[in-house]
Amino acid sequence: MSVGRRRLKLLGVLMMVNFFIYLIVEVSKSDSQDKNAKGQIIVPRGKFWKKPTPSKAYWNKEQRKLDQLYNPILALLANMTVEENLALNASLLNSCDADSAVPSEVKDFGNLPERYKDFLSYMRCKNYSLVIDQPHKCNNKPFLLLAIKSLTPHFDRRQAIRESWGKEINVGDLTVVRVFLLGETPPEDYFPDLSDIVKYESETHKDVLLWDYRDTFFNLTLKEVLFLKWVSTSCADVQFIFKGDDDVFVNTHQILDYLKSLSVEKAKDLFIGDVIKDAGPHRDKKLKYYIPETIYEGSYPPYAGGGGFLYSGKLALRLYNVTDQVILYPIDDVYTGMCLKKLGLAPEKHKGFKTFDIDEKQKKNICSYTNLMLVHSRNPQEMIKIWSQLQDPHLNC
Ligand SMILES: *[C@@H]1O[C@H](CO)[C@@H](O)[C@H](O)[C@H]1NC(C)=O
Ligand SMILES: *[C@@H]1O[C@H](CO)[C@@H](O)[C@H](O)[C@H]1NC(C)=O
Ligand SMILES: *[C@@H]1O[C@H](CO)[C@@H](O)[C@H](O)[C@H]1NC(C)=O
Ligand SMILES: *[C@@H]1O[C@H](CO)[C@@H](O)[C@H](O)[C@H]1NC(C)=O
Ligand SMILES: *[C@@H]1O[C@H](CO)[C@@H](O)[C@H](O)[C@H]1NC(C)=O
Repeated sequence: MSVGRRRLKLLGVLMMVNFFIYLIVEVSKSDSQDKNAKGQIIVPRGKFWKKPTPSKAYWNKEQRKLDQLYNPILALLANMTVEENLALNASLLNSCDADSAVPSEVKDFGNLPERYKDFLSYMRCKNYSLVIDQPHKCNNKPFLLLAIKSLTPHFDRRQAIRESWGKEINVGDLTVVRVFLLGETPPEDYFPDLSDIVKYESETHKDVLLWDYRDTFFNLTLKEVLFLKWVSTSCADVQFIFKGDDDVFVNTHQILDYLKSLSVEKAKDLFIGDVIKDAGPHRDKKLKYYIPETIYEGSYPPYAGGGGFLYSGKLALRLYNVTDQVILYPIDDVYTGMCLKKLGLAPEKHKGFKTFDIDEKQKKNICSYTNLMLVHSRNPQEMIKIWSQLQDPHLNC
């Protein structure tokens, strides 16, 4: 038994002893207090625990069902294994037809904006295919994978990233590789047909991953799940992953220095970024992040802002594993926080992630960028300018 374990055990015993002392004190106290006028002891009626009232919000209800399916004790009571229980309820886990039960299950469904209806109707479908893949991207067991969420028309942003902070590196045992994560931009959403240009782009740079689902804000969660799946199948040996937006500046040198300095223990479950705690859904209909009460109730677990975060490859595999146990949520970074919570983990805040930008006065000073890891937002020209200034050998900060 390790010293840590022994300490833990001792702590447990001490806590039990404490608890019994507390009980004895409480019971003897109640001897003098909880009696009525005739000196009879009053036995409290009703339960002393609070029974949680199940939420009526759709997401919460569905998540509860899923939790029940994965509960080994409930399965045992039904004389089944969890796997058998899952097989019986396969339609709850994966189905790509519009869910016909949703309109009656979600209060006021008819009045929801189209994108909510859409999200809810296809929430159980996650098995989209890759149209453009890079199956050999990770052949060299990269140290760092840069995964950048982009949208097909953002050619200039992608090119600026390639020429600046997203350069691929292969020196000695230090390999940095890059992929852009794309979905479809179909004519139904009034996008021009860019498929030939993307094809050309991917053949030229070999850094495009494109899946056959509609690339929309609410589908960013799909992008997250499909990316984690890709890591599990095509990049399982990567040591670290940076995942972020295509409108951020990343100080890749700083990130590499940080990663190289980590202890093995710290590296294992690494997940850092600009962590948001004690947040909950926005209830203002005008906001991009608005979530109606009928869809989600409760607060959010701690999560790292989707502008960019850094985590270990091992953790990516565990995260992918747990995605089956968490119902898709329309906000991707919150969803990742939910998956971390399922694993019993929480993201850690790192002050180098400036997703809410730096002071206006500091923006022009290149020395503001030497110690940070990420800043949001920067356009393509700014990315190239900052990056080239950071390369200056005479830079003196
Ligand atoms: C799973 O399927 C069984 C059999 O069809 C059903 O009785 C049970 O209610 C389902 N479980 C959930 C959580 O929907
Ligand atoms: C549980 O399953 C086993 C084997 O399938 C069977 O022998 C047993 O009778 C079942 N028990 C109950 C309570 O259904
Ligand atoms: C995903 O799988 C389901 C059932 O397992 C199947 O009906 C559906 O066609 C698949 N969808 C896609 C987009 O591949
Ligand atoms: C997500 O993508 C799927 C597949 O293309 C599509 O059916 C669905 O409408 C999209 N959902 C949203 C909210 O855009
Ligand atoms: C994923 O889950 C399976 C089954 O639950 C388990 O055997 C496997 O070790 C897990 N993989 C990771 C990387 O956690």
